[in-house]
Amino acid sequence: MRTNIVASGADELSYEIREIVDFGKQVESLGVTMIWENIGDPVAKGEKIPPWIKELIAKALTDDKTFAYSPTKGLLETREFLSLSRREAGDGNLDPEDILFFNGLGDAVSKVYTNLNENARVIGPSPAYPTHSSAEAAHAGSRHLTYELNPGRNWLPDINDLRNKVAYNESIAGILIINPDNPTGMIYPKRILKEMVSIAKEYDLFLISDEIYANIEYGSDAFVPLSRLLDGVPAIIMRGLSKEVPWPGARCGWIEVYNKENDPVFARYIKSINDAKMLEVCSTTLPQKVLPDILSDARYKEYLQSRRDAYSKRADIAHAAIRKIPYVSMVKPSGAFYVTVTFDDNTLSNAQHLPVENAAVRALVEETTAAFNPYQFDKRFAYYLMAAYGLCVVPLSGFNTNLHGFRMTLLEEDPAVFKKTLDILAEAIPKYTAS
Ligand SMILES: Cc1ncc(COP(=O)(O)O)c(C=O)c1O
Repeated sequence: MRTNIVASGADELSYEIREIVDFGKQVESLGVTMIWENIGDPVAKGEKIPPWIKELIAKALTDDKTFAYSPTKGLLETREFLSLSRREAGDGNLDPEDILFFNGLGDAVSKVYTNLNENARVIGPSPAYPTHSSAEAAHAGSRHLTYELNPGRNWLPDINDLRNKVAYNESIAGILIINPDNPTGMIYPKRILKEMVSIAKEYDLFLISDEIYANIEYGSDAFVPLSRLLDGVPAIIMRGLSKEVPWPGARCGWIEVYNKENDPVFARYIKSINDAKMLEVCSTTLPQKVLPDILSDARYKEYLQSRRDAYSKRADIAHAAIRKIPYVSMVKPSGAFYVTVTFDDNTLSNAQHLPVENAAVRALVEETTAAFNPYQFDKRFAYYLMAAYGLCVVPLSGFNTNLHGFRMTLLEEDPAVFKKTLDILAEAIPKYTAS
C-alpha cells in the first residue's frame, strides 16, 4: 500500500474468548472431543428457552411492523417501558429520550469508545472483559489504563490504586465499572460504588457502568444499580438482553444516559454517539418489540430465579472442587456466570506441558505454543489443556491482566459434563505444574 491503511490502535484488538476457538477446532478435527467452556452463551451450552418466550416472539412476527426499521434510538414504547421500570424500581429518573438501542452491547461498547476524543481515556478494571479494554485501547492507539481488582480481597477494586491513577493522569476522563463482573463474578458492594462515584465527582469525570448481568446475582452481596448512587455525576449505564433472556443472537443492548444536563461537554459527546447511530439508521427491531412483553410477564421473575439457583448451585460445586486443587485459588462468584481461577505465584513457567497421546495433536500444540509470548504462561496451560483433555477454557491473560489463570463458566447444563470438567481440572493442574 502506498499509504499505511492500518489504524494506529489495530494491535490493541484482541478477543481471546473467540481466538482460542481456532486452535480448539483444529484439535477437534484431529479426533479430540472438546468441552467448550470459553464463551458466555447460555443457549450454546444447552439452556432451554421457555416456550412462553418463544410464543411471544412468534406473536410479534405476525405483525408486519416487526419487519420494519425502528427509530434510531429504538422503539418509543420500549424506551418508555424501560424508563417506567427504572422509576418504579427506584433506580432514578430516566427520560426515554436518554435511551439508545444498539445491535448488542458489543456494538454500544464500540460506539462509546470510538466517539470519544482520542486524548480522553477511560480507566477500567483489570482483569477486564476484553471488548471494553480492547475498544478503549484501540480508540486511544495505546494500552488500556487499568485499576486492579484484587483476587485476595474477593476481587474488589483497589480504590487507592484507582484514586492515584486518576489524580496523576489528567487524560483520564471516565471510569468503567463492570458490575456484576465478567470474568470474576464479583458484585461491587454499595460502599465501593459510592467511593468510585465520589472519585468521579471530585475529578470531574463521567462513569460507564456495564450492567449486562444486572439480574444474574446469587451471592451475599446484593447488586445495586449505579443509577441510584450517581449524585449528579454524568453516566452511561449499559444493559442488554443477551445474558438475561438469554438471547445473545438477538443482538440487542442499550445505553441509558444519566445527568447529561450537568455537563455540556458530556451532553455533546452523547449527541455524537446518537449521530453516529443515526448513520446506521437503527438497531434490530424484533427484540425491542418483544422486550416489554417478556420482561413484564409474571413468569419472567420465576424463570430468572430458577436460572440464578442453577448458577448458584454450580458455583458451590465448582468452589468445593477447585479449592482442593493445589497451586490455584478461586473466589466463589456472586453474579454473572463465570468462575475465575488464578494460579499461585511462581507455579507456572514456559517449559511445562501435559502428556498428549495423539501424536498429531502433540505436534500441533508444541508448534503452536512455541510461537507464544514466553511470559503468557496461562495461555500455554490452556492450549495444553485442550490438546491433552479436550477442555477449552480462556486464559486470564486474555482479560488484560498480568495475573495467570483461566475463566470457565457455570453454564454447563449436563451435571455429568460439569463434573467431568472439574475432574479434568483436578487432574490436569497438579500434573501440569509438576511437569
Ligand atoms: C460484561 C459484558 N459486556 C458486554 C457484553 C456483550 O454483550 P452483547 O451480546 O450484548 O454484545 C458481554 C458479553 O459477554 C459482557 O460479558
